[in-house]
Amino acid sequence: MAEILEIWGGRPLYGTVEIPSAKNSVLPLLAASVLCREKVCLKKVPHLSDVEVCLALMRSLGMDVRYGDTGVVIQPTANVEDASLQTELMQKMRASVLFLAPVLARCGYVEASLPGGCRLGKRPIDIHLDGLEHMGANVRWHGERLCLRAPRGLMGTKYTLRYPSVGATETLLLASVCAKGDTVLHGAACEPEIVDLANFLNQCGGKITGAGTETISVQGVSRLSGGAYTPIPDRIVGATWACAAAAAGGCVTLEGAQPEMFAPVLDALEQAGCRIWRRKNQVKIERRKELVGIGERKTAVYPGFPTDAAPLLAAALLGASGESCIRDTIFTNRFACADGFLAMGANVHRIGSDLRILPGGPLHGTTVAAQDLRGGAALVIAALAANGKTKIEDSFYIQRGYADLPQQLRRLGVKIQVKKT
Ligand code: EPZ
Repeated sequence: MAEILEIWGGRPLYGTVEIPSAKNSVLPLLAASVLCREKVCLKKVPHLSDVEVCLALMRSLGMDVRYGDTGVVIQPTANVEDASLQTELMQKMRASVLFLAPVLARCGYVEASLPGGCRLGKRPIDIHLDGLEHMGANVRWHGERLCLRAPRGLMGTKYTLRYPSVGATETLLLASVCAKGDTVLHGAACEPEIVDLANFLNQCGGKITGAGTETISVQGVSRLSGGAYTPIPDRIVGATWACAAAAAGGCVTLEGAQPEMFAPVLDALEQAGCRIWRRKNQVKIERRKELVGIGERKTAVYPGFPTDAAPLLAAALLGASGESCIRDTIFTNRFACADGFLAMGANVHRIGSDLRILPGGPLHGTTVAAQDLRGGAALVIAALAANGKTKIEDSFYIQRGYADLPQQLRRLGVKIQVKKT
């Protein structure tokens, strides 16, 4: 059943939100647990549709997984029963591609279709496949189905990624951790979620060094155990609440947030006129006066300004008194949410991968549609600042990355209704 969010804007936000485990850590950790020979418990896992899709994929492999209030429990499986990943599940999200390497490593074979995911522009998987080929996998296409074989197991290698892709770095870590021999990855992604994956694999007996730098070394081990693990807090959820407070005004405390993980977003909001208090596991953000434009900002790989936060920051700056321009250098279609911003009366111009934000009149509520996860969250942020009621259609996109958003907003004083259609 489809859901529409109805948000009455124009009220400042006051209160505290808890930052959950990072979706983009949890998904690779679930893929990693396919390799584990003992029970795995992932803690503080938020209830998200993307997590449900991963669990459905794992069940289709014959794994016993439970998703409770405290997290996810995965029982070890003696044999992966079916190395054919269902097309319907693969196409529900991009992170489904992360299951290729662990299933290939366990079965010597995996068959799947291309992954789906947010339509942010072209999202090929050539680096994932090229890296796996370097490790000895045989890659073949049968129509739309992709077949990977490594009957004698994956082999350690030296490999340079042509671009520091987050997903491809994760694939190659998952492929190399139990491969025969040593692997060195050059040009690896440095995002905190890569470090989290490496920490989890090392806790299970993996031998990985250098995660968080461009060169990662992996000594293949024959077996991974399991154990309990708490993933890192979600830096993009942290950025979302910070931008929401900036847009609506008020004062919000982000409990459990690690400010250094989304420092460029906090710096931009500070430059726009917010007051920010950074503590070890907490951030407080306050906005009392009108925001000002911040000039130009470009997204970049970590530790640069995160692409996922580009639409969120844009939404916060719609009511600013000066000009801002945000350029996304990672994806070509990052600002699909601009259609919704325009419908709400914002003065924005989308030119290629740039979004130019000029001072305009006050935002007003209307009906808009989410077109992807972060763009959908950006529409929520804009709605919080708009006068009157905004209806956000296709809110299932937002549920991919934000657990129980209406309830969280209500706790901060927002009037919001969820309508089922
Ligand atoms: C991860 O996606 C995140 N998803 C994305 O978050 C995030 O936007 C992105 O990293 C960048 O930070 C997860 O972690 C599950 P990439 P991923 O591979 O791994 C190109 C969200 O909203 N590329 O680093 O798919 C690609 O086309 C999501 O939570 C290739 O050309 O990102 C893109 O332009 C959305 N060939 C660039 O690299 C490849 O084989 C970055 O992609 C792989 C990628």
